[in-house]
Amino acid sequence: MHVTAIIAAAGSGSRLGSAIPKQLLDVGGRSMLARSVAAFDTHPAISDVIVVMPASLVDGGAIDYIGPTKHELRLVTGGERRQDSVANAFERVPDRADVVLIHDAARPFVSADTISRTIDAAARYGAAIAALEVRDTVKRVERDVIVETVARESIFLAQTPQGFRRDVLAAAIAVGRSGVEATDEAALAERAGYPVHVVRGEAANVKITTEEDLAAARRHVAARTAGRVGTGYDLHRLVDGRRLVLAGVTIPSPRGALGHSDADVVCHASTDAVLGAANLGDIGRHFPDTDPRWKGASSIALLRHAVALVAAARFEIANIDVTVILESPKIQDYIEAMRVGLAGALGIEPARVSIKGKTNEGVDAVGRGEAIAAHAVALLRDMR
Ligand code: CTP
Ligand code: MG
Repeated sequence: MHVTAIIAAAGSGSRLGSAIPKQLLDVGGRSMLARSVAAFDTHPAISDVIVVMPASLVDGGAIDYIGPTKHELRLVTGGERRQDSVANAFERVPDRADVVLIHDAARPFVSADTISRTIDAAARYGAAIAALEVRDTVKRVERDVIVETVARESIFLAQTPQGFRRDVLAAAIAVGRSGVEATDEAALAERAGYPVHVVRGEAANVKITTEEDLAAARRHVAARTAGRVGTGYDLHRLVDGRRLVLAGVTIPSPRGALGHSDADVVCHASTDAVLGAANLGDIGRHFPDTDPRWKGASSIALLRHAVALVAAARFEIANIDVTVILESPKIQDYIEAMRVGLAGALGIEPARVSIKGKTNEGVDAVGRGEAIAAHAVALLRDMR
């Protein structure tokens, strides 16, 4: 099934009243627009993404607010009203699209599950929208006085995404072009005579309309992205005639760590720390000794692969702190090079990487120089 997503981002955000359109404003490190686009761009059922924007941004600058994407984005100039913007975007929907989803850029917290539910119902029933049940008692009010208590069971609050089979959306847009005004495509589909199916929306899928909504959204992201920590530990025996490799740097030493590959304890502890913080298992699960794919691979390469897994799960590495426990040689002179090596594998700047050396004061196997150990703690930011 081919599913095209249209992100409606051509409004000016007049009720929020910021200097730039509200969808370009930052919410926890990324624009609202980038978050909305990413939700669809990374969804496995989405085939392509069209973003409708004000003309000035289509001509240049839009990408700065969206960032890198998996699919090639199609940018389309919007119209006066939201329905005009969507109609413009529809012109660019490929003929082979079975289902078209429309989503407000101003709803940056839409979940993958809500997107999936909308796609399934649109394919099945022809037209579907995500909507939320009303929990409060509903009153109809005129001039500050209640005129009616409305049966709450039949009231739903419309959200996006709204999804349609291509032919149904074509008919809805034709109704809109004939002079009917509507604030969403579901209303036009209703007018075109199609039943629109309701799927469960989510309270978190808010539309940011006012300054208050923006502040609440920023608080929501700040709470969620407070951070996730992970720890890693590794130990290898030291033997004669092996290279001593730490964070990809070879340290002159008569003895080196024994193990398959380069037995780099800094990389191994760091790999477990980042995987652990993302709750993605450990080095043994991803790189078993028995897997020929990783035979002979450097520990830096394994770490890079783990970092890619963590990034695919939409986590960013905030910082990492490593302690190497080694009786001799002293690693002080190599710490800068190690930090740069580790930072390169982690894809972050060296300022966010700390490596410290320690001895074990002659105590235990590490203290007797029979082994080298490392501890790592990583902090990740949740960007989902
Ligand atoms: N939208 C659009 N084209 C328009 C108007 C709105 O693509 N001509 C988009 C907005 O960018 C937004 C979504 O439709 O993502 C929902 O609209 P709304 O929340 O009303 O945004 P604005 O119209 O920008 O805000 P306001 O009504 O306060 O001006
Ligand atoms: Mg509007």
